[in-house]
Amino acid sequence: MIDLNGIIVKNRFFVSSGALAFGNKYLWAKPFIDPTIFGAVVTRTLTLEQRQGNFGVSPVKPDRILEQILWGVQIIKERPTVLRKIPGEWINRMGWWNIGIDRYISEIYPKTKEVPIIVSIGGFSIKEYIEMIRKLNELEILAVEINVSCPNVEIDWETWRNLRFESLVKRCREESKHPLIVKLSAKGDYIDRAYIAQDVGINAVSAINTIKGLIVEPKTGEFFYGGISGKRIKEIALRVVSEIRKEVDIPIIGGGGIYNWKDCQQFFWTGVNAVSFGSIFFFQPWKPTWIVRMHQKEAENEKLCGMF
Ligand SMILES: Cc1cc2nc3c(=O)[nH]c(=O)nc-3n(C[C@H](O)[C@H](O)[C@H](O)COP(=O)(O)O)c2cc1C
Repeated sequence: MIDLNGIIVKNRFFVSSGALAFGNKYLWAKPFIDPTIFGAVVTRTLTLEQRQGNFGVSPVKPDRILEQILWGVQIIKERPTVLRKIPGEWINRMGWWNIGIDRYISEIYPKTKEVPIIVSIGGFSIKEYIEMIRKLNELEILAVEINVSCPNVEIDWETWRNLRFESLVKRCREESKHPLIVKLSAKGDYIDRAYIAQDVGINAVSAINTIKGLIVEPKTGEFFYGGISGKRIKEIALRVVSEIRKEVDIPIIGGGGIYNWKDCQQFFWTGVNAVSFGSIFFFQPWKPTWIVRMHQKEAENEKLCGMF
């Protein structure tokens, strides 16, 4: 087992928030996608109340339906308006679309006992975060991730004064019986916030969250604002985690555009203590499980070689 400043994990490969829903998604598909194989699976961000977020659906255009018929694939007549694919990447505006913490605790948490869960929480006031932290104290989970970096909610995290950030993380530290992680944005004072997190006793930081972007539909001029993830943000993520590493000793969970083993290695070279897979699950869902299995095999071989 590996001790990341109090977060005890079996390996350094995490699933980032939102990629496998609440850790329950794919529990049936273990030969290909195994949520139990990772060091930790971070849930989609939960809020105190159930939230619709920006979730909605719009009809798929008739030419696209014809395309689906010609390709012989399952016909999808509606597409979610919270997600758009751009080559190799996603732009999403989920806006904390979730079932609310009480329903998570009663309906989903009991079904994910074999998954090493980190629960991500988001609130609209310090009081809300604290209320959730108290509810989570009753659960057996690896840690709690405090989301203060989502670009799709009506809070401008970057203009939050660090004093307010400090009050939030301090209060969470006082109230929580679990290890705590703070999820940082690539914008704003991420180094100062990593320092503050370290000083108040937060166990680790994770970086980066998605970065706000805009798609302008070429045919209609329609605007789609949302958080960009995937390949397009990898170099930004690498810069951010390497800058944090230079300044602060706190463990870092690094992610953003990790699609293969080489990407993991690049993140480890910046000095992160664990890596996280996100968007890759939407393009090649089996790949992260496969990377962890390959890594485990290699580690076993090395151990065997060491015996002779
Ligand atoms: C569909 C989708 C949903 C996400 N939901 C959340 C979320 O609920 N909370 C959160 O902190 N990050 C969320 N993220 C951000 C990811 O956890 C991750 O930080 C980001 O996508 C960068 O990693 P990637 O490039 O590997 O995807 C989401 C990302 C995607 C693509």
